[in-house]
Amino acid sequence: MTDNRNSEAAWAYHEATKHSYLSIRTNPHFLDWANQPLPFKIYPALERLRLPGEVRPSGIAALSAIAESVPADTVAVPDLGVVAQLLYLSAGITRQRKYPGGEIYFRAAACTGALYEVELYLVCGDLANLEAGLYHFAPAEFGLRRLRVGDYRAVLVEATAAEPAIAHAPVVIACTCIYWRNAWKYQARTYRHFGWDNGTVLANLLAVATALGLPAKLVCGFQDAEVNRLLDVDPQREVAFSLAALGHIPALPPQPPSEIAPLGPEKVPPSQREVDYPLMREMHAASSLHTAEEVHRWRGGTPLTRFSPPAGEVARLLPLSHAEMPHDPIEQVILRRGSTRNFARALISLAQLSTMLDRATRGVPADFLDPPGAQLNQLYLIVHAVEGLESGAYVFHRDRGGLESLKPGNFRAQAGHLGLDQELAADAAVDIFFLADLRPILRRFGNRGYRAVQLEAGIIGGNLYLAAYAQHLGATGLTFYDDEVTRFFSPHAESKSAIFLVAVGKSAKQKLQEI
Ligand SMILES: Cc1cc2nc3c(=O)[nH]c(=O)nc-3n(C[C@H](O)[C@H](O)[C@H](O)COP(=O)(O)O)c2cc1C
Repeated sequence: MTDNRNSEAAWAYHEATKHSYLSIRTNPHFLDWANQPLPFKIYPALERLRLPGEVRPSGIAALSAIAESVPADTVAVPDLGVVAQLLYLSAGITRQRKYPGGEIYFRAAACTGALYEVELYLVCGDLANLEAGLYHFAPAEFGLRRLRVGDYRAVLVEATAAEPAIAHAPVVIACTCIYWRNAWKYQARTYRHFGWDNGTVLANLLAVATALGLPAKLVCGFQDAEVNRLLDVDPQREVAFSLAALGHIPALPPQPPSEIAPLGPEKVPPSQREVDYPLMREMHAASSLHTAEEVHRWRGGTPLTRFSPPAGEVARLLPLSHAEMPHDPIEQVILRRGSTRNFARALISLAQLSTMLDRATRGVPADFLDPPGAQLNQLYLIVHAVEGLESGAYVFHRDRGGLESLKPGNFRAQAGHLGLDQELAADAAVDIFFLADLRPILRRFGNRGYRAVQLEAGIIGGNLYLAAYAQHLGATGLTFYDDEVTRFFSPHAESKSAIFLVAVGKSAKQKLQEI
């Protein structure tokens, strides 16, 4: 059994999955379209329950929903309609587009390659209009398929060593990731994508929970095998990655009704054959927790970033006040979100950028982030087109509400290159890179800290998407040449690792409409 505390596995995985100019050009991998995996997990024989389709207006602005949370002990129990809304706005199908080879079903949250390897399961006690059970969310039919009858929340309480939010949650959404569905395109780098793509789903989920008055907490400390067994997933193919505790009730759940027997229901095969990338499974095994003691040790104690005081000039952020900011409700913003496919090289305002940074980084309620507001990733920016802000490279000082200038200049060409030679990074108004010093993170959290840092990036990245779209701007996640990103932001970023990238700006389509 591998030990989470020996972080060599995370370092080895990280190094082996870095992109470089050479690695991209010498990789013989090609997309085998005839063997493309299905983007849905389908249990054809299980009892199906249709979810109510209407989206109830929350009246809560997206820019508030991503920045706030409901106090943990607020008593709140979702009913079936609220559950449906949570699922739809985090992982439901919001758009579809035909292309010569078929049809793409786009979802509420952004996902690398639109491959949607994240699956959601619901573990709940009795709710209004929904019996206690374990359910799989089936976005294609917008329904639930019931895997187990009865209240199994106590299994999660045990697996999380009685994590308080889980213990008092009427509903837990368990997120799993399916290796092959994403690795078909991205090979072993997929394990990073698990964090990114689960993160964008969670950004939506946490924001919608807040808008609907539910306390919510992300829990990543759990005994992996116990949760996988409850969900009845084959851990060689699909693994539990995160748990979201939703709502709060004073009572603890009852003992589960029976042994956690394997179910083995019929499933539609995802594709003709699967290619295995053992590196990912090794990374997952090495970051798994096996005992209650390990789970206890996991919680809190986030290593705080020691940021040296700014050496360069600091530009003060000027976020819009609550009264000034756009109040487009969260559900409306999620439904209009998409990834910008072309940016116009147009200016955005300093207030818009400030509002995005301010609102997207107000803190994630997670068991690995304590004290609240702690953050593992640091944001580095390449600014190309912000009115009132000199173009150049910056680092974001969240505590000071400012951007420290690292080097002024027009870096569009370099940014395009860093973003894997994609025009999107060159044409955006701002590229926001996430970098993290993995050493204290892995020292504190072991290999599982690698899951946490990727997941946190995905959530803040998802928030940035929503903060951009709330202001009628565009955004897209992007991938990058790892070491070149660190070099670009050095010496400030020396010894940090590139984790995530999101580009924001005005979309070319929107610019055309304005003319
Ligand atoms: C973390 C992340 C990285 C992404 N990287 C790229 C990229 O390198 N190039 C690109 O064109 N799109 C990228 N995308 C955008 C996805 O292709 C897009 O989210 C997906 O096609 C679904 O479409 P939608 O976001 O419009 O719903 C990325 C998205 C995410 C969340």
